[in-house]
Amino acid sequence: ADLLVLNGPNLNLLGTREPRHYGTDTLAVIEGRLAALAADIGHSIAFLQSNAEHELIARIHEAATDGTRAIIFNPAAFTHTSVALRDALGAIGLPFIEVHLSNIHAREPFRNRSYFSDIAAGTISGLGALGYELALMAAISYLQPR
Ligand code: DQA
Repeated sequence: ADLLVLNGPNLNLLGTREPRHYGTDTLAVIEGRLAALAADIGHSIAFLQSNAEHELIARIHEAATDGTRAIIFNPAAFTHTSVALRDALGAIGLPFIEVHLSNIHAREPFRNRSYFSDIAAGTISGLGALGYELALMAAISYLQPR
């Protein structure tokens, strides 16, 4: 797949998890929409959600050699903690877009800092599940500059 969508811890619970922050769409519904959108515009897309930092790191390493050209990543709580995931993305050097369902700047102070934003191609935060679709559009135009 040329596009990879990664989701971090607790995002498997979307749909029922704190809907006032994260909405009511399940991750399966979000991924289904992204798959349809990608197919419509002739791109292949792969998905991984994991609650384990090492699994996300391993998948990022794989992306370096499996044909992935851009990554859409919601690191979830690892946003605010993980130098290791940041370094994995730095190591492979593929462009990635950071996505958050909620506006991380409008919540607890510990969510204001991201280990990813300064090395991301761009960030989307606070637009709910739509943020993933916007990120997909952005990733594709990033790959095919006009
Ligand atoms: C999140 C925001 C994070 O602060 C939080 O830990 C999450 C989800 C979001 O999508 O809004 O798990 O990344």
